[in-house]
Amino acid sequence: MDQTTEKKEKKDIPVNIYRPNSPFVGKCISNESLLRPGAPGDTRHVKFDISGGDLRYLEGQSIGVIPPGEDKNGKPHKIRLYSIASTRHGDDIDDKTVSLSVRRLEYKHPETGETVYGVCSNFICDLKPGDDVQITGPVGKEMLLPEDPDANIIMIATGTGIAPFRAFLWRMFKEKHDDYKFNGLAWLFFGVATDSSILYKADLDWLQYKNERNFRLDYALSREQKNAKGEKMYVQHRMAQYADELWELLQKPNTHGYICGLKGMESGIDEFMIDTAAKSGVHWKDYEKQMKKEGRWHIETY
Ligand code: FAD
Ligand code: A2P
Repeated sequence: MDQTTEKKEKKDIPVNIYRPNSPFVGKCISNESLLRPGAPGDTRHVKFDISGGDLRYLEGQSIGVIPPGEDKNGKPHKIRLYSIASTRHGDDIDDKTVSLSVRRLEYKHPETGETVYGVCSNFICDLKPGDDVQITGPVGKEMLLPEDPDANIIMIATGTGIAPFRAFLWRMFKEKHDDYKFNGLAWLFFGVATDSSILYKADLDWLQYKNERNFRLDYALSREQKNAKGEKMYVQHRMAQYADELWELLQKPNTHGYICGLKGMESGIDEFMIDTAAKSGVHWKDYEKQMKKEGRWHIETY
C-alpha cells in the first residue's frame, strides 16, 4: 500500500464525531430480547435512530451512551462504551440506525448482599421505542475489519462480545457490496452459558448453512457441555479441539484473529495459544507481539 492510500484509509475512519460535552440525541426504535426461555440474565438487541445527525461508523467500532441522571456525588453519569452490532449501513441498510447488544448488569453486592443494578445497561435494556438516548463517538480502531476480502477472520467471542462479529458477518454474508465481496474464511468461536442464550442463533446458523465454504461456526455452552477434563466448556476449550487447524491458519499472512467479550477469557485463550504454538517450537507471546504489530491480532475485552 502506498503512503497516500494508507493516509487516506486512516483519515476515513470516523472517530469522536460526537463528544461527551455535545452528544447526539438519538431515539430508540426497538428493544428486543436476544434470549430464549430458560436462558439466564437479560440481553437485548437495541436499535437507535441516528438520522438527522452526522454520526457514522465502521464495523468493529463502539459508541458511548450517557445515561440520564447523576451519580452518588451529584455529577452527571459518565459515558459507557458499547460495541456496535450493526454494519456501517445499519440493520435496515439505510444508513439511519445503529444497534447494540446489551447485557443487563445485575449482581449481589459482595458485602451487603443487596441487588445492585448497573446504571447504563439497565437504562438501555429498559428503553422503549421513542425514548431519547445520548450517544457519543464512534470510537475504536482496534477491531476494524481488514479491507482485503480474501483475508481469513478468526473471531472469538463470549456473551455480548458477539456484537462486532455480528457486524462483520452481516457485512460479509448478508449485505451485497460492489467493493467488498468476502471470499476468505470466517470462523466464529462463540461461548455462552446455554443453547437458549446463544445470541442471534437463528441468523448465525442460517448464515453458516448458506455459506458453508466460507463460514465455520463453533459454540461453547459452558453450562451444558463439558471440556475434555470434565469441566465447563469455555470458548478456548472448543478452540483446543481444532488446535492444529487454527495454528496452520494463523501462519498465513492474511489471517486475522479477533477476541471480544469477557476480560476473563483472555488468560484462558493465552494458555491455549501458548501450548499450541509451543508444539511448533514457537513462543506465543513473541508471535502475538508480531501479529499485533502487523495489525492481525485484535483484542477488545471488558
Ligand atoms: P455500572 O453502574 O457502571 O456498574 C459497573 C460496576 O459494577 C463495575 O465497574 C464493578 O465495579 C461493579 N460490578 C460489576 N459486576 C460486579 C459483580 N459481579 N460483583 C461486584 N461488583 C460488580 N457491554 C455490553 O453489554 N455490550 C457491549 O457490546 C459492550 N461493549 C463494550 C465495549 C467496550 C470497548 C467496553 C470498554 C465495554 C463494553 N461493554 C459492553 C461494557 C459496558 O461499557 C458497561 O461497562 C456495562 O454495560 C456495565 O455498565 P453499567 O453502567 O450498567 O454498570
Ligand atoms: P459461565 O458463566 O458459565 O462461567 P454471558 O456474558 O452471556 O454470561 O456469557 C459469557 C460466557 O463466557 C459464559 O458462558 C461464561 O461461562 C463464559 N466465561 C466465563 N468466564 C470465562 C473465562 N474465564 N473464559 C472463557 N469463558 C468464560
